[in-house]
Amino acid sequence: MPSHSIYIAAMQGVEAEDAWAVHSEARKRWRAGEKDLIVLSVGDHDFTTDERIVDSAVSSLRAGHHHYTPSIGLVPLREKIAAFHSKRVGEPVGPENVAVVPGAQCGVFTAGLAVLDPGDHVIAFDPMYVTYYGALIARGATLSQVPLHPENDFLPDMEEVRAALRPETRAMVINSPNNPTGAVWPKETMEVIADFCREHDLWLISDEVYCTMTYEQPHHCPRLIEGMKDRTMSVYSFSKSHAMTGWRLGWVVADPKSIEAIEMVMGSMLFGSPPFVQEAAMTALDAAEDTVDSIRELYRHRRDRVCEGLAAVPKIKLRKPDAGMFLMLDIRETGWNAIDFAWKLLEEQKVSLLPGEGFGKMLEGHLRLSYGASDETLDEAARRLSAFIQKHG
Ligand SMILES: Cc1ncc(COP(=O)(O)O)c(C=O)c1O
Repeated sequence: MPSHSIYIAAMQGVEAEDAWAVHSEARKRWRAGEKDLIVLSVGDHDFTTDERIVDSAVSSLRAGHHHYTPSIGLVPLREKIAAFHSKRVGEPVGPENVAVVPGAQCGVFTAGLAVLDPGDHVIAFDPMYVTYYGALIARGATLSQVPLHPENDFLPDMEEVRAALRPETRAMVINSPNNPTGAVWPKETMEVIADFCREHDLWLISDEVYCTMTYEQPHHCPRLIEGMKDRTMSVYSFSKSHAMTGWRLGWVVADPKSIEAIEMVMGSMLFGSPPFVQEAAMTALDAAEDTVDSIRELYRHRRDRVCEGLAAVPKIKLRKPDAGMFLMLDIRETGWNAIDFAWKLLEEQKVSLLPGEGFGKMLEGHLRLSYGASDETLDEAARRLSAFIQKHG
């Protein structure tokens, strides 16, 4: 057999496999019928997509919309996304600034292909959403991860960012609101990041998939900062905001030249997202736009409930998230290593949480809990966690 590419080898070398193994095992047991398991190690909703959106896809299919579409999306969808961005993010843009992609995952991958060359270097952070690594090295770039310290509320220290700079640095990738930390980077942080990118002529790939799910702190899109529109590719998704994870649809907002570059990439890789998915997305953006607010309010309620439920558990510090659907539990005081803790918790209490190492070294001693579950499930998870700490903590 001929050999596989160096890309596959690099992916296999990624640390954190042990952390994700806990989740894989939980899923395996769930599929095998262990229904008393509580799986809070994945970022998906426990409910289905709004009926109005589903009906729209069904009608589109019934109407015979079964054909190819433009590589970066139907123009009416790009127009609606531009209007949504103008309203929700606060930046007036037109369809020429929008490329529809099959999910934010693909958005980051495509942005990387559009702006990076082999040998380029990208500054990323630790913790980091796990798939950026594969998405950004695909083009032959290398990645450095600047630590985000828990003691600094997972905000970047610019001295450390500066130290990561190399002559071949071409881009930076950021994620605010953040998965897994739930941190929202304040305006001042965005401004220093923007200054840095301008000073060193870098592209900024900004993953903003949780931008409609902020609770107390407002989201700040770096494109709003002067001089950033032509160097920032902001990535969004219908997955979380509209509970459409399995539909695979997202978008990138960028300057028209970058959108053209994405169009070239998408033309050679996808050839257009399914028309019925795009028509459903149009319904999501107009007739069903209220889902965005109801989903945010549901998750605000769940965040508060799970934080309340866990507040009295000794030796666990909660990092109350400002956004998104994940809560970080700091278990360093228990003396446990997070991977061992997660395995034992799965064995004894049948609760699956994700060890922080799944996102980088900075999250050793932390566990990520997804509150994409009902009140009853979250209450029961809190009870089981409390019993576990009483026994072992
Ligand atoms: C930070 C972040 N970026 C990207 C994605 C991928 O989103 P999509 O489903 O749109 O590909 C996720 C999904 O969990 C995420 O948490």
